[in-house]
Amino acid sequence: MLSSHRQLAQPMLQPPAWGYWSAVDGTLTLDRSIIQQHLHNVSQPVCFVQTAEGMALAIGGQLSEIGEYPVMALAPACLPSSLGDAAFRGRHGLRYALVSGSMANGIASVEIVEAMSRAGFLGFFGAAGLSKERVEAAIDRLQKNLGQLPYGFNLIHSPNEQSHESQITDLYLAKKVPLVEASAYLDLTPHIVRYRLSGIRADGAGGVYTPNRVIAKVSRAEVATKFLSPAPERYVSELVESGFLTADQGLLAKRIPMADDITVEADSGGHTDNRPAITLLPAMIALRNRLQKQYQYATPPCVGLGGGIATPASVAAAFAMGAAYGVTGSINQACVESGSSDRVRQMLAEADQADIAMAPAADMFEMGVKVQVLKRGTMFAMRAAKLYELYRNYSSLEAIPAAERVSLEKTILRLPIEEVWRQTVEFFQRRDPSQLVKAEADAKHKMALVFRWYLGQSSRWANAGVPDRVLDYQVWCGPAMGAFNEWAKGSYLQAPQQRTVVVVSKNLLYGATLTLRQMILETQGLACSDFFLAGPLPVEALDPYFSEGTP
Ligand SMILES: Cc1cc2nc3c(=O)[nH]c(=O)nc-3n(C[C@H](O)[C@H](O)[C@H](O)COP(=O)(O)O)c2cc1C
Repeated sequence: MLSSHRQLAQPMLQPPAWGYWSAVDGTLTLDRSIIQQHLHNVSQPVCFVQTAEGMALAIGGQLSEIGEYPVMALAPACLPSSLGDAAFRGRHGLRYALVSGSMANGIASVEIVEAMSRAGFLGFFGAAGLSKERVEAAIDRLQKNLGQLPYGFNLIHSPNEQSHESQITDLYLAKKVPLVEASAYLDLTPHIVRYRLSGIRADGAGGVYTPNRVIAKVSRAEVATKFLSPAPERYVSELVESGFLTADQGLLAKRIPMADDITVEADSGGHTDNRPAITLLPAMIALRNRLQKQYQYATPPCVGLGGGIATPASVAAAFAMGAAYGVTGSINQACVESGSSDRVRQMLAEADQADIAMAPAADMFEMGVKVQVLKRGTMFAMRAAKLYELYRNYSSLEAIPAAERVSLEKTILRLPIEEVWRQTVEFFQRRDPSQLVKAEADAKHKMALVFRWYLGQSSRWANAGVPDRVLDYQVWCGPAMGAFNEWAKGSYLQAPQQRTVVVVSKNLLYGATLTLRQMILETQGLACSDFFLAGPLPVEALDPYFSEGTP
């Protein structure tokens, strides 16, 4: 019999759904450990047949219309490299359809991007919040180290810093950065349109070639529609009139969408609308299908999923729902290559799914936009909420009542407001002096800049691991972190020192192939969940299912 305590349950299908199996040179086994081994070897198909002693795994042999053993369940080979959309993998030169998303302030570090790229994945450098010089240094390093291997940079919409967004766009164009992750857009800007259309030309085979690829991260249908449509006429006309594009290029722009692909961002770390993936993704895929029908692009955009991707089950679910690729974030911050600190990595590794909260965002503070952050071990969310309350209630720093001001300077800023303002002036003189002009004329804007000093510093303290500011750490983090920790509990990946982005990514993809294999067998009535209880595996055990580099 198959096992001492549990036999593979009888399938519901009636033979001969798949025909019959004959031994020829093959064998049958009821041995649990051999069955488990074969189920885990996802590079080979598996076949289960009915025998007098119960369900057996058929190894080798032949299928035909007549024979001794009715075939009850079959699962094909399913390698990590076959997950997701081949068109997505192809256009970005990837072996695997898993992407590490941008994480601001270089938390998505050059080390993360390099490691992901060399292993056949894709990584985006976290350019948001960094100076142009630091972004340039990251481009130089990645271009030197990666050569033709894939990589990308974040192009983040900065409503408060349009000149910075413009300068970063110019930098990407000057340095020929071939791929950006466009995020935080509420509407298209001239900058993202300029990046997308620069160098557009006919490909000589009746199609359109664009040297600059865009993957747009979106959580709302209105924004997705803009990225899935051709560039707006008014921006294209402006670019033609200014001589940036020729008239012919302007015409070609009508034939391509603004983004090659869109990442649908469900409840995630950082900026998020907290939407559930399970409802958002199908709606966005339907939207893509409608717009593809309308525009008939030669190369249809793919739809990927980010937000909550943290375990083999969530990766498998994303692909099962039709995602072309998955994007991870929170779980990568807890890996050794991230630009964060050991202290933060440890805090993240201890987080549960509920240890997160929404807090005011530094970049869109005045608009009331929030970001999702870690709650456990830091008081940032509460303190930042207090700052937003003061901002809402008072017209200027001077209007804040004395008692509130004392508490603000003593507990939150831990500096006199005058000193914070001095540092703020120093920062904006370099970064964007127009902010200071605006603050001179508008006391409420000055108050926002002072409060944004705290919001900006709090993530720097976290990244640097400043010991006496632990309670002020701003650590962007979504429920994915807790989900990963639960899955990794008791394994070597429980310790953040063991987490590298490639080991984590390979585990998720390989685990997803197992989950999908289990699902395929169970839909044929084979109750086999006991065989699929694997947690994280060491990388040597995963190696047989992965190959390095570009395809
Ligand atoms: C620490 C951190 C910083 C992030 N910063 C950015 C950013 O600057 N730009 C961006 O497009 N997305 C940013 N994100 C979102 C990630 O790129 C990714 O889309 C998201 O984290 C995926 O969801 P998850 O957190 O549930 O894994 C950030 C996420 C985290 C956790």
